[in-house]
Amino acid sequence: MIEGEATMNLAAVEESLLGGTTARRDETVIVRGEGCWLYDSTGRRYLDLTAAQGVTMLGHCHPALSRAIAEQAQTLISCPNFLYNDVRARFAARLADVLPPHLCHIFLANSGAEAIDGALKFARLTTGRTRAIAFRSAFHGRTVGALSLTWEKKYREPFLPLPDTLHLPYNNLAKVDEALDSSIAAVFLEIVQGEGGVNIGEREFLQGVQQLCQERGALLVVDEIQTGFGRTGRWFGFEHHSLRPDLICLAKGLGAGFPMGAVAYTRSVQEKLYLGAHGSTFGGNPLACAAGLAALQTYAEERLVERAAVMGDYFVRRLREELAGNLLVREVRGMGLMLAVELRQKAGPTLKSLMAEESVLALPAGPNVLRFLPPLTITEEEVEVGVAATARVLAAQEARP
Ligand SMILES: Cc1ncc(COP(=O)(O)O)c(C=O)c1O
Repeated sequence: MIEGEATMNLAAVEESLLGGTTARRDETVIVRGEGCWLYDSTGRRYLDLTAAQGVTMLGHCHPALSRAIAEQAQTLISCPNFLYNDVRARFAARLADVLPPHLCHIFLANSGAEAIDGALKFARLTTGRTRAIAFRSAFHGRTVGALSLTWEKKYREPFLPLPDTLHLPYNNLAKVDEALDSSIAAVFLEIVQGEGGVNIGEREFLQGVQQLCQERGALLVVDEIQTGFGRTGRWFGFEHHSLRPDLICLAKGLGAGFPMGAVAYTRSVQEKLYLGAHGSTFGGNPLACAAGLAALQTYAEERLVERAAVMGDYFVRRLREELAGNLLVREVRGMGLMLAVELRQKAGPTLKSLMAEESVLALPAGPNVLRFLPPLTITEEEVEVGVAATARVLAAQEARP
């Protein structure tokens, strides 16, 4: 034990050493997780309806995931990328099984933003063009490449100039038709905009963007970082609309809590790549691949994708029933287990009260939206706890003068 550790204020240590870029909600220090629940250093438990920001899709510390990581940690953690590895190959084969057959090449990275950066490079190489289209309220990450595609001005503007991106209104096909010319390498698209407000893409818009890309020689990159691996009730969000993207970006649910990212892409993209076109020291390390393999097996064995569709319908119905008539609520919407309560006020105070008074964790999405991204393993009883807490907090806030 470090000297004085027993009395150390861990929140203060974190804040002084790691603070400055990430806002923390209060002084709570989380020390353990199990299923939908997180436990703090005082033993208090919280219902985690965020799945640690959309990541722990199997719940915290699912035994199959924890076992796979522990076993691999005692076998081989890192393997030089210039050599093949048994677990990496098994993981890639399993991932290829759940991807559509035309996305038959994969690059392994460590995070969502890194996957987006890879896709941006691949699209530029493939088309020989340099510009991209992304959408207002889009979020694609915060590395320099990914940041160029992210919409929020306060993230992006201090770092200008960034790679050239046109930000167009979401769900407005006419604007894409106007802007998509021969300078555009790729259109980056979320099927449901997550951080930007749980804005659901309209079928006609999504299919129309794909058609315009095909007609004008641009690539369609679908960002499935938040929507992938069952979150929306299908393995991938683009399946709802029978899309055929040229590239997709994956992270969050890929390792179900273990940091991983990936880009999957077509043969014609692969043909333009060359050795050294992209690379990553940690991408595809055996420990991550063992986690990813266990996650993919568990999604299938526990039929969690189908479960997300059923539980998502239940969750949204119960929210609508319990929040009906509350004047602070503008709309309840969702797709699978990606759910939103749009408010007529800022979401911050409601999120704070949910945590402080009800021990329930939820996320913001844009200024006015409460977002729920629970583990796909959530039970009806846990949904009821979350719905009742949300209804109580919003009823109290509505009653306030
Ligand atoms: C849709 C989407 N794209 C990209 C990212 C960036 O992923 P990461 O935080 O792993 O870099 C996120 C993260 O929330 C996301 O939701």
